[in-house]
Amino acid sequence: MKTILIFFGPPGSGKGTQADLLSQKTGWKKISTGDLLRSETALKSPLGKQAEKYMKAGKLVPDKLLIDLVAKSLKQKTEGFIFDGYPRNIEQQKALSNMFEKCLKKNDQVVSLLVDVSDKEIKHRLSQRRVCSCGAIYHLKYNPPINKGICDVCRQKLFIRDDDEPKIINHRLKIYHQNSEPIFDYWQQIGKLIKINGEQPIAKIHKEILQKLKELKLIIL
Ligand code: AP5
Repeated sequence: MKTILIFFGPPGSGKGTQADLLSQKTGWKKISTGDLLRSETALKSPLGKQAEKYMKAGKLVPDKLLIDLVAKSLKQKTEGFIFDGYPRNIEQQKALSNMFEKCLKKNDQVVSLLVDVSDKEIKHRLSQRRVCSCGAIYHLKYNPPINKGICDVCRQKLFIRDDDEPKIINHRLKIYHQNSEPIFDYWQQIGKLIKINGEQPIAKIHKEILQKLKELKLIIL
């Protein structure tokens, strides 16, 4: 049996942080479309060059550019996948359902998890986020690196994401409310949306997620 967990939540709600912790705990592969796109832009690939202008402006990258990236990631051998940042609109939801129909087996389980955080808290969090090109995520106050400005994992210099500028954050939040929130109705109707209060300490949220997955018999603690 394979488990597919889809993280929903506004930009900066802690999806990436929780997806990393869960992946470390379970061995399930994380599929973060944001990370995949940032790798493509760093490589200056044709896809990366096309995606960069949308990402810098805090806009969604066109759906057609993402389908192959996601479909390719789903071919990895693993007991589970953790989606972080996909799907983000109804079209992507439909595309993902089609991919699942083709590659999932009858016993495989799909569940979604909404990390709920207010816009006010998001703006505060993202102003103090620092990231590394290896994918590690820090917060100056809530999750600081051991050595100031240096990644604990790979020792590279940390930086501020281009889209963590206040004006761009407002735009990303607007897009989230308009495009992503309508997807939750579908997951709620089929009884597969777990809601988590994302305004708690990182470790407490992680523990709560593990507990919910245990209750659903998706993991054994
Ligand atoms: P993406 O990278 O997916 O960005 P996002 O969804 O906007 O989410 P973030 O990565 O900003 O935040 P997060 O929720 O992962 O929070 P994090 O764990 O970092 O996408 C970037 C861009 O790529 C998009 O704008 C778009 O252009 C494009 N894109 C990606 N996917 C796409 C798609 N499907 N379709 C179209 N375009 C797409 O945490 C945030 C901060 O808070 C960190 O500093 C962290 O340390 C801290 N923190 C985390 N949890 C807590 C906590 N509980 N308490 C206090 N601080 C916390």
